[in-house]
This record gives sequence, structure tokens and C-alpha cells, in this order.
Amino acid sequence: MNVLGLESSCDETAAAIVASGRRIFANVVASQVEIHARFGGIVPEVASRQHILALVPVVEATFAQAQLTWDDIDAVAVTAGPGLAGSLLVGLNAAKAAAWARGLPLVAVNHLEGHIYANWLLSQDDPEAPPPPFPLICLIASGGHTDLVLMEGHGHYRRLGRTRDDAAGEAFDKAARILGLGYPGGPAIQRAALQGDPKLHPLPRAWLKGSDDFSFSGLKTAVLHLARRLESAQGHALAEGDVASIAAAFQESVAEVLAAKTCAVARAHGAQHILLAGGVAANLALRQRLAAQAPIPFSYPHPSLCTDNAAMVAACAYFRLQGGQRSGSDLDIAPNLRVAAWA
Ligand code: KG4
Ligand code: ZN
Repeated sequence: MNVLGLESSCDETAAAIVASGRRIFANVVASQVEIHARFGGIVPEVASRQHILALVPVVEATFAQAQLTWDDIDAVAVTAGPGLAGSLLVGLNAAKAAAWARGLPLVAVNHLEGHIYANWLLSQDDPEAPPPPFPLICLIASGGHTDLVLMEGHGHYRRLGRTRDDAAGEAFDKAARILGLGYPGGPAIQRAALQGDPKLHPLPRAWLKGSDDFSFSGLKTAVLHLARRLESAQGHALAEGDVASIAAAFQESVAEVLAAKTCAVARAHGAQHILLAGGVAANLALRQRLAAQAPIPFSYPHPSLCTDNAAMVAACAYFRLQGGQRSGSDLDIAPNLRVAAWA
């Protein structure tokens, strides 16, 4: 079964065609990063307008890459939320129109669930990889969310922990901004940290003992104070070496807490497997921490599938369809959607 997926929840316009939830025929992402970079973050009105411009060319490029036509498509999937309302509307209306015009089933996908299902997609490095076994713990760490989810089967989710303030990716973006490293912050911090010494300017960890929740806003404030203190003591802007060392200390603090809490809930709930999902799953320091600490096997999507894409949406939709889930033409956007079990 071939599913066409559309994704427009934030600042990537994406389309993909995926067979049976796992094999990618085509995966096209038009990023708006450069357009938003000069504002230091995403401007919602600019994003939705850009989605309107990019959507049709992206879908056309997807069919061209897959060497398939509409006749080969069995269902249309789209992200309904969470995300920016104006952005979500563009993909959702396009999906509705396509499903109606072609008489195909329409499947709404929760963006966060989509991130989880990126782990079902096969990569060229390992085309025979078995699907992740249940029960599993998934850490979803993106620009908007940080959730620890217990998944006991397709559609069976329980959120065990979440961030109480900033998302992990948001913390990376804010710290990068303070350090003058640009947007998006995650890859910039990871790059800068390579040249730094995490022990030079140590930063705190928010453990929130006794809870499976996270907090990252205090760490961001600590980065701000540290940067200001160094600048005023030295009488000039931060030196490159200090930027690198603060980036390294910041990254270590985030990775240590994310990895430790993920391993703890995996143990507590008898999970067989750990999955990483969302943009921050691309972070090397986090992966290395888990490799050293995880009590059970863990896996993560190919880095290009960690950040927003439509292949993950098409993958999730396949398993939703298998579970009898599909949407009507009254489908609407849900900008504040949470991870929840299928009804
Ligand atoms: O999942 P995603 O593409 O979009 C959302 O749904 O939010 O995640 C984007 C976030 C950004 O905050 C970005 O800074 C972060 O993921 N990110 C990373 C890395 N690559 C992207 N954070 C840490 N290390 C990375 N290598
Ligand atoms: Zn995302």
C-alpha cells in the first residue's frame, strides 16, 4: 500500500510516498530555514505563505522522484497538528482536496506520532532492519516538544513525562542565539561544541528528582548569565574558545538529563527497546550518552529523518489505516494536539 504524506506544520514544506509504512519511494523537503534565519526564528505568517508557494512543486517533485503517478497512490496522509495554525491549514486543505478528487482515504496524523514512526522507515544503510519491538520507550525531543512516551503497540501511547517549560530543541535554539551561533541552534551548537571543553564553564542540570518531567529554561538562563559575566569580565564579546566551551557544556547538560531520564523510565516500565525521535534525536552527544548508558537496545532514525519530513507522516498513516483509522472531509487542524492513544 502506497501512502502519499504531506507535512506543513512548521517551517518545512514536505511530501513523500512510502510503501507499507516502511519503504521510502520519494521524500522531498523544502526548507524555509534561510528565509527565517534572518529573523532568528520562525515568523508564522511568512511560513504559511511560503507553504502555499512550495506545496505544489514539492508534490510534483515527489512523484517525479518516485517515478509514480496518482494511480499508484492508495491513501493521502497529512499532519493535522500540533503546529502553527496557518501552516497546518495549507497541507491539510491540499490533502483533503487530493483525497476528494482521487476518491482516496484521508488519514490525519499527529506530528509527534509521525516523529516516532520515522523509526519504522527503512534506510539504505539497513534495508532489512526489523521493526522496533514493543513495549518501547520513545523520547520525542523537537523544537516544540519534549515527551517521554511508553508505546505498547501501534496506537497505544502513554505519556510518562514532558517538559515543564522549554522544549529541548527550543533550548538549543535559544542557547545558540545567546552565543551568536545562528539558527537553527541544534546543529550549530553540536558543531561549535566539537572545539570546546565542557569542563571549562560547567552548567547545571535540572533533574526534577522524583519526576519523569524535564525543565530546560533554567539552563538557558544559566547560559545567558555565564555569557554576560564572561563578556563583562573580559571587556569584549565572547572569544571563540569560550563560545565553543559553553556550547559543549550546554550540550552535555541537555544530553545527560535526556539520556538518564529515558533510561530510568525504560527500566521502570520493563521496556524492550528505546527510540529517539524529533530534531534533537540527530544530536551526536545524546546518541553517545545513550550508547554508553542504555540498559536495552536503542535506535534512532537516519539524521535526515529526525527533523521534519513527510515520510514519517506517511509511515504513521499506514499503521493508522491498518488500525481502521481514517478521517472524514470534516477533518480540521488541531494546533495543540498531544500524543494520545488512538480512539
Ligand atoms: O523535529 P524538528 O525538525 O521540528 C519540530 O517539530 O520542532 O526539530 C527541530 C529542532 C530545532 O530546535 C533544532 O535546533 C533541533 O531540532 N535540532 C538539533 C539538532 N538538529 C536539529 N538539536 C540538537 N542537535 C542536533 N544535531
Ligand atoms: Zn517536528
